[in-house]
Amino acid sequence: MMATALLRPGSTGDPGQRAAGRRRRDDAALRADLERLRDAHLHRARRLLDGPQGVRPVIDGCRVLSFCSNDYLGLAAHPVLADALREGARRFGVGSGAAHLITGHSQAHRRLEEDLAAFVRRPRALLFSTGYMANLGVISALCERGEAVYADRLNHASLNDGALLAGVRLRRFPHADTAALERMRAGGDAALLATDGVFSMDGDLAPVPALARIAEAADARLLVDDAHGLGVVGSGGRGTLDVYRKLGWDDDGSVILVGTLGKAFGTFGAFVAASDAVIETLIQRARSYIYTTALPPALAHATSAALALAQREDWRREHLQALIARFRTGAADLGLPLMASATPIQPLLTGDAETALAWSRSLEAQGVLVTAIRPPTVPKGAARLRITLSAAHAEQDVDRLLALLERLPCAEERQNCEDSSA
Ligand SMILES: Cc1ncc(COP(=O)(O)O)c(C=O)c1O
Repeated sequence: MMATALLRPGSTGDPGQRAAGRRRRDDAALRADLERLRDAHLHRARRLLDGPQGVRPVIDGCRVLSFCSNDYLGLAAHPVLADALREGARRFGVGSGAAHLITGHSQAHRRLEEDLAAFVRRPRALLFSTGYMANLGVISALCERGEAVYADRLNHASLNDGALLAGVRLRRFPHADTAALERMRAGGDAALLATDGVFSMDGDLAPVPALARIAEAADARLLVDDAHGLGVVGSGGRGTLDVYRKLGWDDDGSVILVGTLGKAFGTFGAFVAASDAVIETLIQRARSYIYTTALPPALAHATSAALALAQREDWRREHLQALIARFRTGAADLGLPLMASATPIQPLLTGDAETALAWSRSLEAQGVLVTAIRPPTVPKGAARLRITLSAAHAEQDVDRLLALLERLPCAEERQNCEDSSA
């Protein structure tokens, strides 16, 4: 049973077919597959960063103006964090040396968990090494095989992978469409509803209050992965849940919150914040928590410093909001196809992958880096430039980006249309 479950989809376990499977994975077959990716404009390559992350990094030997990172508050290379990391290494060493449940759990981890729980107003928080592992851990610890998990179609891949690993019935509802979710679920069971808080590729907010109502009616838990909302939206950067609290939503504490630390907070790692019972269950049952070495304690120490800085320096969020408004006004004036996002994630939809790549290359040739995001990261036909703004950008940086976007074919076509209709 076990071996069959681990075979690739479509495989029967027949020895002949297994041999064919092996042939398909020889180097020639892999090269042919890579060639197909290139032909479809879907091949990806890593860029080499020389020096720290920032809005003017040196990438592949050239200094560029970058609109690509998730360093929304501009903290990734902040001297306060670097000093805290050094101090943490002196106090706690570099490696944690063991899993949390062996001897890897240090005072630095405990303090950060307490800081995070207080920040997001949940009784407890639990650190994970990455957001990917946090999502795997929550879903597999809280759901039984065969149970139904409902997930927004645009959720981050780690939520989908968590569901696959847990062997649940994954049912994906159309993006933010709570009416469709209700229709899909009507009468059926549901163990968990899962959603991004701020959607990683579209930048919009999940309809959390409606999802919470549906979850309650279905006797299911709601999991909100706010990797892109924490630090950025809500008072003091408390995230998507706080945006809705301020609008009058009654947060009864039942939502399970996942946050990541490698984005707005500028360090690395992730956490789950929830009730005592949920956190204790994760400690006992989440395999991606139990069977892995604990995050380096020095990083936890640096993250406590980052969290304090992110809360204290409201000016970073205010400046970011001003940049977002400036970008959106300028882009609307150019007739660019903006999406409904009020966050630093400002996608420019191109549709096909080839155009996204061509636009990205054209910008890069002029010293501005904006990554082309293509399937499978986004659905087929929804390729885009994923523009991200950071508090480290200046207004002139946004103006420079807009000046270059004005010369892209989409803006030119739009201008021509307006000229000919005038
Ligand atoms: C919504 C969301 N959840 C989870 C993750 C994974 O977090 P991590 O990079 O810490 O693994 C990401 C991106 O990285 C994300 O965008």
